[in-house]
Amino acid sequence: MNKNPLVLAIDTSCDDTSASVCQGTTILSNIIASQTQLHKQYGGVFPTVAKQAHKENIEPVVAHALKVAKVTPEQVDAIAVTAGPGLAPALEIGIEYAKEFADQFKKPLYAVNHIEGHILSVLAQPKSKKSLDHIEEPKFPVLSLVISGGHSQFVLFDQIGKYQIIGETLDDAAGECLDKIGRMLNLGYPAGPVIEEFAKGGDKNAFEFPLPLTQTKDFNLSFSGLKTFSRNLLAKLTQNQPLSKQQVFDFCASAQYAVFRHICYKLNKILENQQIAEIWLGGGVAANMTLRKMIRQTIRDFQKQQQKNGQSVSTIKFRTPYTRRLTMDNAAMIAIAAGFAINRGEPATDTESLDRRPRWSVSD
Ligand code: KG4
Ligand code: ZN
Repeated sequence: MNKNPLVLAIDTSCDDTSASVCQGTTILSNIIASQTQLHKQYGGVFPTVAKQAHKENIEPVVAHALKVAKVTPEQVDAIAVTAGPGLAPALEIGIEYAKEFADQFKKPLYAVNHIEGHILSVLAQPKSKKSLDHIEEPKFPVLSLVISGGHSQFVLFDQIGKYQIIGETLDDAAGECLDKIGRMLNLGYPAGPVIEEFAKGGDKNAFEFPLPLTQTKDFNLSFSGLKTFSRNLLAKLTQNQPLSKQQVFDFCASAQYAVFRHICYKLNKILENQQIAEIWLGGGVAANMTLRKMIRQTIRDFQKQQQKNGQSVSTIKFRTPYTRRLTMDNAAMIAIAAGFAINRGEPATDTESLDRRPRWSVSD
């Protein structure tokens, strides 16, 4: 097969129906039909509602992705689909469609792990830059932070396609925690972006939140304590009167800072223990500029500490997706992951036995 395979990919892992055509790491199209408006009324994603919306959206979304990319079904080298992790009823729709497409057009099908997609999203390039030759070759080992509404993981790897989870949340994901705190403040769903906006007008030191898991030596995360702390603090603050606008801003700034400080605290622990050449950030929460800034600061502080200790200072490259669109759930990242699998010479997935894997770990 040619070096940069032309891949049509589908992602229906959660509440967005997405289809994309990529040539290697170059995005030719990346269509996302968001269901956010549909799920707003439930304050979260409702699986059966998501399934029905995917059913309605999948065909037009795929057609649109092919049209924008100016590619016919016959021209694609392979079709890729997210097999997990995600919501079972939602995953089913994408898998079913991909199977039919593979069968009809006699194309190899590749099942992709959604987390691997988020990891590789930082390598995506716009069409104008043409091919993956333009992107700086990754240096390993890479530490990827996948921070989304469903996951919060530290993933270490020496090569693309072989991943080791070295730390992950023991309870809620970071995005889920922000969404739940946002719900307490009546900020709507999803609350992450609203909290980022409101935090700009607030003081992150206005309320002192705890720093979780400082006693444990591992790199796991836990956000449920921050959620409980938020609930108790809010109850206390609103005993006599509702929060003022400024208090809401301060609360957002302080809570957001607490969530990211916890991630950066553990990131620093990893840097102290492992040699890392690059840090990659993916997932919905990666859109947050404060998180990006705090990660950069953590790297700088770590390097300063090395210098102070008379150690040689590590060069650590930090990558984020080139556009915010790639931080949310999208099929381009799935196409890119499949492109790498094809280039490695991995065999296509057997369509007969392919089934959804709602709890598929990226380290399996
Ligand atoms: O990756 P994603 O689209 O879906 C999952 O696979 O979970 O992530 C969605 C999550 C939500 O929790 C949302 O609140 C959060 O990402 N999010 C943000 C921002 N944009 C989205 N959190 C903080 N700041 C943002 N700007
Ligand atoms: Zn995701």
